[in-house]
Amino acid sequence: MEFQSNLKSKLPKTGTSIFAVMTALANEHGAVNLAQGFPDFSCSTKLIELVNHYMKKGFNQYAPMPGLMSLREKIAIKTEEMYSAKYNPETEITITPGGTHALFTAISAFVEENDEVIVLEPNYDSYVPAIQLNGGRPIFFELKYPDFKVDWNEFKKLINHKTKMIIINSPHNPSGTTLNAQDMLKLQKMVQNTEIIILSDEVYEHIIFDQMEHQSVARFPKLAERSIIVSSFGKTYHTTGWKMGYVIAPTNLTAEFRKVHQFIAFSANTPIQYALSDIIDDKELYLNLNNFYQEKRDYFQKLIKGSRFKILDCQGTYFQLLNYSKITQEKDVDFAARLTKENKIASIPISAFYHKQIDNNVLRFCFAKSNETLEKAAELICKI
Ligand SMILES: Cc1ncc(COP(=O)(O)O)c(C=O)c1O
Repeated sequence: MEFQSNLKSKLPKTGTSIFAVMTALANEHGAVNLAQGFPDFSCSTKLIELVNHYMKKGFNQYAPMPGLMSLREKIAIKTEEMYSAKYNPETEITITPGGTHALFTAISAFVEENDEVIVLEPNYDSYVPAIQLNGGRPIFFELKYPDFKVDWNEFKKLINHKTKMIIINSPHNPSGTTLNAQDMLKLQKMVQNTEIIILSDEVYEHIIFDQMEHQSVARFPKLAERSIIVSSFGKTYHTTGWKMGYVIAPTNLTAEFRKVHQFIAFSANTPIQYALSDIIDDKELYLNLNNFYQEKRDYFQKLIKGSRFKILDCQGTYFQLLNYSKITQEKDVDFAARLTKENKIASIPISAFYHKQIDNNVLRFCFAKSNETLEKAAELICKI
């Protein structure tokens, strides 16, 4: 029975996300799942106890719309310590139910009919549908395989009077590359004297390797004044299922962001905000995250060194790209499906992150896994 047989979709080209598809396939075939980006180990027991504590104490009703003040104050201090940037917790920091919500809200708050939004491909899959649902036009800039660097001279050609927003993401999912200070300075220069808003997806800010420093837009005052920064507690505290994040932006941008946030979610989980406000004092948890994941990256790379895959450079995030040209010329979606079914190892084909499904024979593997899982996965990978 159908209510409207010709129901018009607002996202006609959007299917089920590749993450859901590959995870379902992995479950169906009992494969080791390095597809979806989530840790398979536990978060801090102290954090769980804190959430428990605040729930039992009765902090179970709506939090203030912009978020718990004590948490926002601590984020302000942390941001100043890390990026030498001052933000007012009252008017410039908002707690959100996750990074994805924050991205959607930011795009909804600013993108109007026919506005152009530049996105760098490959990209995280929530940006484009959010732009389209708001009537905007995604303008794609391709990061070229294999180094995925931005050619800023080429990039500049996409900017015109219709450009409302540029979305950047560093450290970058899925490529594992990062934007350096030179990149940020070039971007800063390019947008000066324009009205362009930068939406900076920095959910992997603490997962950056080899002594590199994360170049937050917050470090660059002329960029920061036009930027909305998105962070995710899920990535930082191994709690992706809690869907908690925050947004930092100058007062005028935050005011517009909150106008939309209050009607999409109103506020974020109360007891978890209290718990995060306590745990954030333990600086080691986020300052050590880069070492924690660098060890995992190095271990995973060592385990698969003898395989027929080519290991690509991984500067940040918890994703490792592997090129399989030496094994087969199959399409990446087909190869990823076959590996899941036959070899019992699930990954994500990179073509899924491009609107034109560009295929460079590359798969993405998530190494946010216990050493035991990585060993099992590596054994399977080495047999391919
Ligand atoms: C680049 C990027 N941005 C945003 C998010 C979403 O963060 P959250 O889980 O807090 O919604 C993810 C999650 O995978 C991501 O990879």
